[in-house]
Amino acid sequence: MPTDLATINSILYEHGAIRHHVQTFANAVKELEEVFVKKLGEWDPSVLKTITDKRLNLQQSLQSLYEGVKIHHDREESVMAPLIGSQLMEGLMLEHEDMMQNLERTKTLLSESEVAVMSREELMAQSYEIRHVTDYVCELIGAHITKEDAILDLLKKAIRARQAS
Ligand SMILES: [Fe+2]
Ligand SMILES: [Fe+2]
Repeated sequence: MPTDLATINSILYEHGAIRHHVQTFANAVKELEEVFVKKLGEWDPSVLKTITDKRLNLQQSLQSLYEGVKIHHDREESVMAPLIGSQLMEGLMLEHEDMMQNLERTKTLLSESEVAVMSREELMAQSYEIRHVTDYVCELIGAHITKEDAILDLLKKAIRARQAS
């Protein structure tokens, strides 16, 4: 069985990996938006192919983020309560739920439309909506990780102080 310190460090490590997933996802959103900026004056069928590819890339990075976050939450929910207490754990779990719901919402938004039959205006409007939802979801995940990092750092301090005395 891992020590409490080892459990804490492994969760902190996973936070680094999730931050990396969030960054990759945010970059994929940016790449999709850049298509509209670069192709402002020249709209032709090749643009639709580029948008389809960028959206596929975005969906894939969203799926990786979704799976990484889900596995991480399952793990936290099974190992963190004995370390931080059940009430604080409940608060964190409410945020887990909120993040998963928003990730699901983003997945639905990306999968429900057919790029080939959409006009430029419709695609731009949807890109705006995608940006809005993804900014929010990235913010939620980042804020949650920052809170947990602070809690886990305090725990580490307490464990080390106890070990030293
Ligand atoms: Fe969490
Ligand atoms: Fe976490």
